[in-house]
Amino acid sequence: MDNRPIGVFDSGVGGLSIWRAIRKLVPQENLVFFADSGHVPYGEKSTEELTDLTGRITAFLLDQGCKLIVVACNTATVHAIDHLRTRFSDVSFVGVVPVVKTLARLTRTGTIAVLSTPATAESTYLADLIGEFASDKRVVNVGCDGLEDLVEAGNLRTKQTTALLERHLAPVRASDADVVGLGCTHYPFLRNRIKTLLGPGVRVYDPSRPVARRVRQLLREHDMLGSNSNPEFRFFTTGDTELFGSVATKLLRFPVRDVGYVEL
Ligand code: DGL
Repeated sequence: MDNRPIGVFDSGVGGLSIWRAIRKLVPQENLVFFADSGHVPYGEKSTEELTDLTGRITAFLLDQGCKLIVVACNTATVHAIDHLRTRFSDVSFVGVVPVVKTLARLTRTGTIAVLSTPATAESTYLADLIGEFASDKRVVNVGCDGLEDLVEAGNLRTKQTTALLERHLAPVRASDADVVGLGCTHYPFLRNRIKTLLGPGVRVYDPSRPVARRVRQLLREHDMLGSNSNPEFRFFTTGDTELFGSVATKLLRFPVRDVGYVEL
């Protein structure tokens, strides 16, 4: 048994979609969530900036006593997780990447679509995933700038959000894609809107649960499962603590209070 917390981080509130799945699957774990809201969006940053920021965040989470680090951000995973694994070689990391393999297996039309940030959409990591698992498929790869900022502000149902979603979903609707992967952890909070706009013929995949299952599997393998009957959830941000608390409370329908401010 190991009652140290699991560290989960993202550029902002998006990683809470993964936090929520982990909390549900392993409810006796203490969790520390870190939102780098002071530097959002990651989707428009370079690999160098991302390795630097995520290295500092990992060091902070290890200082908090975390036993495992979840990179709850596709952009940070595809650009920085290899670097983190080399730099913190004795630490276990779990990342999240677009579910290309699953989409390729499930499509009936032979066309899959991936929605992600521009930095993920243009990454060699995603190109390699497509090459490995979907080389015989047509792939609609959409870099969706701006969506994460709207989720950060808690704007899930505004006209502006619908207009931006319509723009980013246009190439998907124009194709015969029948499966869509949410390749940014902010997007599960827009999943219902996306489903409505795409219609009933298109299935939308959110990788949060598989990531949580991988966390549980690693904890089991390393004999690190926690057994807290009254688990503690702590939250930190590099941005506005009040804003993070109120948006996180709205997204999770769970009271997020006492958010700590961190200067990276
Ligand atoms: N939530 C992040 C992801 O999964 C990044 C959002 C952003 O900061 O651009 O890619």
